[in-house]
Amino acid sequence: MIRINIELDKKKLCRAAKTAEQLVPESVKSLCREASQDIDAICERDPAVKSRTEAAMLYPGFHAIMAYRVANKLYKRKKYTTARLISQTARFLTGVEIHPGATIGKGLFIDHGSGVVIGETTVIGDNCTLYQGVTLGGTGKDSGKRHPTLGDNVMVGAGAKVLGNFTVGSDSKIAAGAVVLGPVPENSTAVGIPAHIVRRDGQKVSKIDLDQVHIPDPVSQELCVLMGKVMSLETKIKSLEEELKCAEAAASAPGEGAPAEADAQSKSDTDVG
Ligand SMILES: CC(C)(COP(=O)(O)OP(=O)(O)OC[C@H]1O[C@@H](n2cnc3c(N)ncnc32)[C@H](O)[C@@H]1OP(=O)(O)O)[C@@H](O)C(=O)NCCC(=O)NCCS
Repeated sequence: MIRINIELDKKKLCRAAKTAEQLVPESVKSLCREASQDIDAICERDPAVKSRTEAAMLYPGFHAIMAYRVANKLYKRKKYTTARLISQTARFLTGVEIHPGATIGKGLFIDHGSGVVIGETTVIGDNCTLYQGVTLGGTGKDSGKRHPTLGDNVMVGAGAKVLGNFTVGSDSKIAAGAVVLGPVPENSTAVGIPAHIVRRDGQKVSKIDLDQVHIPDPVSQELCVLMGKVMSLETKIKSLEEELKCAEAAASAPGEGAPAEADAQSKSDTDVG
């Protein structure tokens, strides 16, 4: 009898749980999933973190991302002012400004938070890492899509500025303090101001390719080509002169002058005509 009652209670509980789950809106469920993935990202990538609770409670980057995820859902429903209000409140509390219109994949980790700016038309793939002071912004010269697109697993170092509408390929790294103004291929490292590629597919990129100061002079390159042509013409002229000398020597030899003389005579006739 008691057994039957327990079975009945279990069934009731399952039904109640299912009903409760159905009552939770899909947007809240997806928010919880995203939060869990963002906490996973902190635990995987920050050796300093000690527990998931610490990651959830004490990381301003995580709080800013959660605020963004809520604001983005409102932004998509055209609740622009409320979305901006949430984003600006998060900025005030965390020092991280993420425009609610930005598109951000799962597992974003913003370490230390402060000073990060992510523009409206920025696209960030999955599992990216941004350190403090990173700007994913526009150059101020464009409208429409004017912010960068980051692929998956991109790391942007502290203080780096990525400005303009171009793509930073998946698995690439932007060095701390770099200013990136153009596309970065996949699996590459970009450093410096303006940034240049120093590593691609694990191999160092030749420094000769990166030299922006000692660019070859196109005029001197053309002169070199002309010099080459002049030298080959000189060689040809010399060989022709030698052939001519041989021919003259053969003509002046006794018994063999008649045909050459006839040739010379016919040539002078043609010239006169
Ligand atoms: C760029 C970085 C990711 C290293 O990437 P990597 O692919 O392993 O590159 P390497 O270390 O082999 O460096 C390649 C070249 O770039 C140079 N370089 C590395 N970081 C640089 C930087 N921030 N600025 C300028 N040059 C840099 C190296 O000196 C090296 O030059 P060399 O070829 O003349 O020796 C790393 O140096 C970096 O900047 N990380 C950012 C981390 C960060 O922001 N931490 C903040 C924690 S709070």
